[in-house]
Amino acid sequence: MAHAGLVGAKSSGYKTIVYVICSVAALGGLLFGLDQGFIANSLETIQRHYQLGVQGGEHYSSILATGGIVGALLAGLFARFLGRKRSLLVAGFIFTAASALSALLPPLPVLSACRFALGFGVGVASFVVPLFLSETAPAPIRGSMGTLFQLMITIGIFLISLTNVLIARTFMNPVTSLPLMFLTITLFAALMFLGGFVLPESPRWLMLKGRREEAVAVLRRTLNTQHEIDVEIEEIEQALHGPQGAGAVIVMRGYFIKVLMVGVLLQVFQQLVGINMMIYYSPTIFGYAGIKGLLATMTVPTVNMLFTFPAIRLVEKWGRKKLLYVGAITMLVTMIAAGVTFQAVGSVSNPAMIGGTPKAVLLASAILYIFGFAVSWGPVVWLVCSEIFPLEGREIGMTITTMVNWTFAGLVMANALSFMQAHGNASIFYVFAGFCVLAVAFVALFVPETKGITLEEMEFNLKNGVRLRELGNREPGR
Ligand code: BGC
Repeated sequence: MAHAGLVGAKSSGYKTIVYVICSVAALGGLLFGLDQGFIANSLETIQRHYQLGVQGGEHYSSILATGGIVGALLAGLFARFLGRKRSLLVAGFIFTAASALSALLPPLPVLSACRFALGFGVGVASFVVPLFLSETAPAPIRGSMGTLFQLMITIGIFLISLTNVLIARTFMNPVTSLPLMFLTITLFAALMFLGGFVLPESPRWLMLKGRREEAVAVLRRTLNTQHEIDVEIEEIEQALHGPQGAGAVIVMRGYFIKVLMVGVLLQVFQQLVGINMMIYYSPTIFGYAGIKGLLATMTVPTVNMLFTFPAIRLVEKWGRKKLLYVGAITMLVTMIAAGVTFQAVGSVSNPAMIGGTPKAVLLASAILYIFGFAVSWGPVVWLVCSEIFPLEGREIGMTITTMVNWTFAGLVMANALSFMQAHGNASIFYVFAGFCVLAVAFVALFVPETKGITLEEMEFNLKNGVRLRELGNREPGR
């Protein structure tokens, strides 16, 4: 009973430590964003210093996605054998070292290797951070805490877009500006690395490794009452001892394959609604319509960041599915509006001659589109992918879904502009609109609502044959 006093009788509210833990861990999301958003406003400087053509520049940019795929692949092994906390430390160390080395402006092969390493770090972080958050945050705020990951990604994209624009405008010489751009990443990377040391290990991973006492000690720091701790430990134990296959065997189980398909398709749609065309190329696309300057470089990152904030509350209030519908329908409408606008101005050969109305429609469509993504598919997909897998298969499931995310992100980045060139500026918007329609149907038919239910209850339902769509209902299994 010695610890009963320690945890106290207070059962409402959460300890500050919960928020501290989640914020530090979410710094991994910030690094994701810093690296993802880095290219848009730095590529020209990189090309000048390293004398790269368009293809060389594209190649350098896309190495991030390759690193991301490999990082996500190995992250599952790291998370299982090293633990979640040490995996975050590995990612933090890689981010720090690779960005600091890039700041020395090494020869191109070394700079490219560093970009691969940064991608590797992003791959590890995009796997471990949502996993760590969903396993450590108490169930009622798991959604909000998980959403932090996406918020940090968008803050990272915004920050780096802004600092790179400012640096490029202030220091014209790449020998000065480029190191400063890379050092901005190093600064936050070092914060993540050092912050990682104060994190506790995930109680679920500790239980998985049979380290019950340590798991209880962590829960004592995060939960309020002894009762809450007992319930949590019992639920984790039940999940661990329930009907399941060990490790790799689980991928053969029908129930696992079912949720895997949900996770994989969510990630496929998250990319095929076209978000990274907007994140990477919106200045270029705005340029096609004669929109230039700060409006072209900062609109997307700013809206993207601002509208992720409401998602933190809405994901718990409205639930995950409602947000996915609202987001997909908003993106559908705005992609069609953008397509129609580009079609309408198709005959104008000089972008400077394009009138105010099409420009305004395009800008409004882009703002609404980014709002649609930021408030829904951005945060919710990562969150649901961290929630739906049974504990034994969580690393494998999230490894696969994270790799799928990076593969499709790379696909969009590598083809969006050339597709526009080949089939006309309007074409790509209609393609993405088509995927929005498919995404709505998919959510309606197969995606469970995961709000307000514990991971273990959902796992119980899954293993007891409850239909995918109903996995998050409290009644059916128990
Ligand atoms: C996506 C990234 C995207 C970012 C934009 C993330 O959820 O996975 O591909 O660049 O959101 O905010």
